[in-house]
Amino acid sequence: MSNTGNKSAPGYLRLGVNIDHVATIRNARGNDHPDPTRAAKLAEEAGADGITAHLREDRRHIRDADIARLKDEIGLPLNLEMAATPEMLAIALRHKPHACCIVPERREEVTTEGGLDAAGLHNHLKPIVDRLGDAGIRVSLFINAEKRQLEAARSLGAPVVELHTGAYCDAAMERQSAKRDAELARLAAAAREGTALGLEVHAGHGLTFDTVGPVASLPELAELNIGHFLVGEAIFVGLGESIRLMRAAMDAARRASEAPAASDKASR
Ligand code: PXP
Repeated sequence: MSNTGNKSAPGYLRLGVNIDHVATIRNARGNDHPDPTRAAKLAEEAGADGITAHLREDRRHIRDADIARLKDEIGLPLNLEMAATPEMLAIALRHKPHACCIVPERREEVTTEGGLDAAGLHNHLKPIVDRLGDAGIRVSLFINAEKRQLEAARSLGAPVVELHTGAYCDAAMERQSAKRDAELARLAAAAREGTALGLEVHAGHGLTFDTVGPVASLPELAELNIGHFLVGEAIFVGLGESIRLMRAAMDAARRASEAPAASDKASR
């Protein structure tokens, strides 16, 4: 039986909708419109499984008050993306979101450009992962698809990793098919290795209708987090529709990847 569309089935692929760029548009004029919390409620109606928001050190999009409102007003699990700093740890412990995804952060970057060096930063990350875990917050580390980083996540005791899909998406957009395929193979291997290590594996960054299919087909993945493209596409089709179309693309990819296994069984 297909696991697509049935949220309680074991192989269901969750969609976390990142609403940061609703706040980017709001902040361009300095007032309250468009409201990221309203977008989160719309995302819930459109079938999102969670809401993701990145409180950056420079507050360039999401602000502290957004996190408070999202936590209080939305029905979906909130995934707070944050740098591993004392300030962000205090904010996370105050609001107690469902999950925290620890990301590397550099002020001058346009977006989160690479994965966290979980291996090199073990001693810095360990107390933060422990404090969040002790508070009942599910900790995820945003890493590149490398075995060394998966092993580091495991040794840190983080239950979840999120694989950075940016290099795959960039290669696909630039039509570099050999690089795209190599990056996808790296993601596939990391999804398998992470699962074998006992980690729950997520993925995200830069995904679009054109790039989501091959990633959604990786059977070990439990969740994708997608933002910029969904908010951009909302200009043309509306936010609800852009989320519904993404959900449909994910479901179609999972169905197609399950089909050979199902027909193998039928012919046995
Ligand atoms: N996952 C993580 C950890 C991220 O930092 C981001 C970007 O904030 C995303 C997913 C979503 O990326 P995009 O906005 O490119 O879809």
